[in-house]
Amino acid sequence: MRISMDPEPKFSAIANLFILLAEDDRVSGLPLDKKIRARIEEAVRKSGFSGRQDEGVSILLEGDPRKVTLMGLGKPDKVTRKTVRAAINGIGRIARKNRDTSIVVAFAHRFEGDTPEETALFLLDRLANADYGFRNYKTSAEDVWPNIECVLVAPAELDGKTSRALTEKARIISDSVKLARDLGNAPGNEMTPSRLADRARAVAREAGLEVTIHDRKAIEKMKMGGLLAVNRGSAEEPRFIELEWSPKKAKATVCLVGKGITFDSGGISIKPADRMEEMKFDMSGAGTVIGTLRAAALLRLPIRVIGLIPSTENLPGGRAYKPGDIITTMSGKTVEIVNTDAEGRMVLCDALHYSQKYEPDYLLDFATLTGACVVALAHEATGLFSNDDELARMLIEAGEKTGEPAWRLPEWDDYTEYIRSEWADLKNSGGRWGGAVTAAIFLKQFVQCPSWAHLDIAGTAYMESENARDPRGATGTGVRTALRFLEALA
Ligand code: BES
Ligand code: MN
Ligand code: ZN
Repeated sequence: MRISMDPEPKFSAIANLFILLAEDDRVSGLPLDKKIRARIEEAVRKSGFSGRQDEGVSILLEGDPRKVTLMGLGKPDKVTRKTVRAAINGIGRIARKNRDTSIVVAFAHRFEGDTPEETALFLLDRLANADYGFRNYKTSAEDVWPNIECVLVAPAELDGKTSRALTEKARIISDSVKLARDLGNAPGNEMTPSRLADRARAVAREAGLEVTIHDRKAIEKMKMGGLLAVNRGSAEEPRFIELEWSPKKAKATVCLVGKGITFDSGGISIKPADRMEEMKFDMSGAGTVIGTLRAAALLRLPIRVIGLIPSTENLPGGRAYKPGDIITTMSGKTVEIVNTDAEGRMVLCDALHYSQKYEPDYLLDFATLTGACVVALAHEATGLFSNDDELARMLIEAGEKTGEPAWRLPEWDDYTEYIRSEWADLKNSGGRWGGAVTAAIFLKQFVQCPSWAHLDIAGTAYMESENARDPRGATGTGVRTALRFLEALA
């Protein structure tokens, strides 16, 4: 949806006024014109609407607005970013199905501990994404979705200038999230490593980023043995993508690493056929990094941000790497391959090592790394690992404020024995137990930065089926968290 904010929207051209209400909430508390409020109040009373979560009632009125849709938020003390996300997703669905091409949204709450700006930014950005769909391959006219204009009723505390600035910021963030979603949803035959690099280059031009694309020769020269090993089974060339936002007088340097496996078949340790198609999302970490860099540049954040993306397919071609192979990584450390499906860590270890050349203050990596993380946390939270308690705290808070929860898991050195190899320095899988943790421990062996965090987004980067908060497919998770974190450093 195209978003804006207005303290007094005109209702004459509005197809549908959406009001988000908790139980016991009164329409009289809404920042709306008195006369309109009185009419709506009466209609609400007659409709029997109670504000229960997931309740949605549309009422027709005489005059403008002609249609009001009440969305329930449940108990007033339980109005959280989660429940509001579900209601906003409902707004997108209803408006699209009704073909309401211009809507107004009113919301009277403020989240606990939030400034009015924070709540408004959350609403705007989520509304902008509420009717998102990946429609590039739909060819029938019936499948075309309407363009929806959405006006959020601005809370009285925000003046016009602040509202306009917030709207502009929300547009940059939501467009960057949509970019990450588009990249994730694009099928593997379109989004190959070289196409991913092309997209990164186009984003760099649009946003004013520096970009360097390393091709196979350059990757060989850098001795990125992990990335090259995974690439062996694929007919597509690998790419190592670097994006950089370098403002003058930067307050800190942050490296963001994103897993860019454009399709993960598992390789020789091949995955079961059932739902293998989901592995087109295995470059979601790369999408998060590209989206974040775009927004960091357009928002002109005073932080130097470097994006590093190792990208390849993982396929079982005749030259594919095999279980038992021993690979020398860029760091010089050797790795015994026990499972070719543990390919993410093989490409990330080279990128993490490479990041040292920038001597970053913070090093963050985003990766759809393990099924074990999905077993532990399902689709509710990103698995967070960090060697720095303060950084972990900052990322958890950034996740809370943006509606992208993260939950910390241990990265104790006690786990290193799980990935000890008989023949090499390490093996690439620690076996069945603690799979998310042993993967993080593997990555840690390649990290020099004292403030490193690994975000396992395997369960949060895409939804395998539609739920109340999200449609099926890529979510763009991590972009908002990373931006909020970068802003906190500024
Ligand atoms: N891309 C997968 C992880 C994944 C699985 C993401 C399911 C989202 C949903 C990753 O490359 C992988 O295959 N990991 C293996 C590691 C194992 C072989 C040690 C896994 O989790 O099974
Ligand atoms: Mn895999
Ligand atoms: Zn993978």
